[in-house]
Amino acid sequence: MAKKITVDEALNLIKDQDYMVAGMAASEGRALLTRLHEIQDRVNKVTVDLCLPLSSYKFMLEKQYSDTFNVNSWFFSNDLRRNFKNGNISFIPNHLHFAGVRRLDHKVPNIFIGNASMPDENGYLSLSLSNVYEKKMIEKAEITILEINPNFPRTLGDLLVHESEIDYFIDVDYDVPVLPDSPSNEKDKMIGKHIAELIHDGDCIQLGIGGIPNAVADALHDKKDLGVHTEMLTTGFMKLYKSGAVTNKKKTLHNGKMVAAFALGTNELYEFIDNNEDILLLDGNYVNDPCVIGKNENQVSINTTIEVDLTGQCCSESIGTVQFSGTGGQSDTATGAQRAKNGRSFIALYSTAKVRVKDSEERVEISKIVPYLKRGAAVSLSRNDVDYIVTEYGAVRLRGTNIKERVELLISIAHPKFRDELRKEAQEIGYI
Ligand code: COA
Repeated sequence: MAKKITVDEALNLIKDQDYMVAGMAASEGRALLTRLHEIQDRVNKVTVDLCLPLSSYKFMLEKQYSDTFNVNSWFFSNDLRRNFKNGNISFIPNHLHFAGVRRLDHKVPNIFIGNASMPDENGYLSLSLSNVYEKKMIEKAEITILEINPNFPRTLGDLLVHESEIDYFIDVDYDVPVLPDSPSNEKDKMIGKHIAELIHDGDCIQLGIGGIPNAVADALHDKKDLGVHTEMLTTGFMKLYKSGAVTNKKKTLHNGKMVAAFALGTNELYEFIDNNEDILLLDGNYVNDPCVIGKNENQVSINTTIEVDLTGQCCSESIGTVQFSGTGGQSDTATGAQRAKNGRSFIALYSTAKVRVKDSEERVEISKIVPYLKRGAAVSLSRNDVDYIVTEYGAVRLRGTNIKERVELLISIAHPKFRDELRKEAQEIGYI
């Protein structure tokens, strides 16, 4: 039976050189992590793995703690990218479905810290908002600590654990972190419209992270019998379910159920998923496995990118050498969707970005379709795996095309003011 402890008692369990893994995003165990820096004088070289941390933890960000705490992340947040140069922060390259599996091949944690909903009358508690790698870590870690919180939804799937499997609980009652529902702008709406034209009734949908996927969800309310097999369950999916566009009736895998690996959204989303038997939060290693995704007929994946070169390589996680986010499930879902019968993958992006000029507040507009990716850019989706690319100027399909055809297709959806320059560069390189 797990023992209830306080945050102070949990901090006392941490020793020199311990290796801790925290749950992903809203499941990160924030009561303990918020106070982790307090043990600085007592410990040396403690390592903490995170994934899309949602709070600004002192141990992770403040320079004075950087000799004591090493921080790794599978997916960067704003804070991590801004403080990367502290020297104690590193990125773990990964496909999301392998995040836990491959890390465990490398190193087994001493301590797992995460979140859960309250145990039920049989002693089972739900890992609530994330099932990406948490259960695997719980099985392997020497010490498991869960912050149990009555505000966290009790979600269903394969993320129930019995209290006897956990070493320690900390009672907490903080609010569940939310991702606000941001309104779509005109460009988002145009992209949403182009993609909606290529989505059919009965398709099974995955939507990625970022502003554009939300707008795509908004554009799908007129569709019928959509299904959901996605990595991240968002507020957009809840709205599609409530409007009747998502029924999951036509799904060929997990018929009748929405399948995801983690959830992040508004409080309304959290109320919706609480004890909802139509929603399965399954192990991310399974959900995002391209072979599993491909079992859904008519699977469609919709993600976004930072820049795409004229051959179709998508850099979706870095701005040059600066790690911005992570590959996450972009490659998993794009390649998985294309394994499916009648599957399609969309990478959507604005044709331009406004970027800050070095050492100034001035911003200039650049094309996001480029002859070369920036120096040091990470390729998140290979040109061998790219399918549709969509901007506010239209959607083009690169699947199966040669470089010459790709260049022409991509120029046709670039911002008109950059098209001549792109053509000139493509000619100089010898692509066309
Ligand atoms: N060059 C330089 N800067 C660029 C740029 C480019 N080509 N494109 C975008 N940027 C800047 C933007 O100006 C913005 O800067 P700001 O914050 O200073 O305004 C910043 O990068 C973020 O761009 P934005 O388009 O607003 O990002 P987003 O929040 O919509 O997220 C991704 C887009 C691509 C970063 C995000 O979708 C991602 O991380 N994808 C990889 C993971 C994934 O797809 N997973 C799928 C399964 S969930």
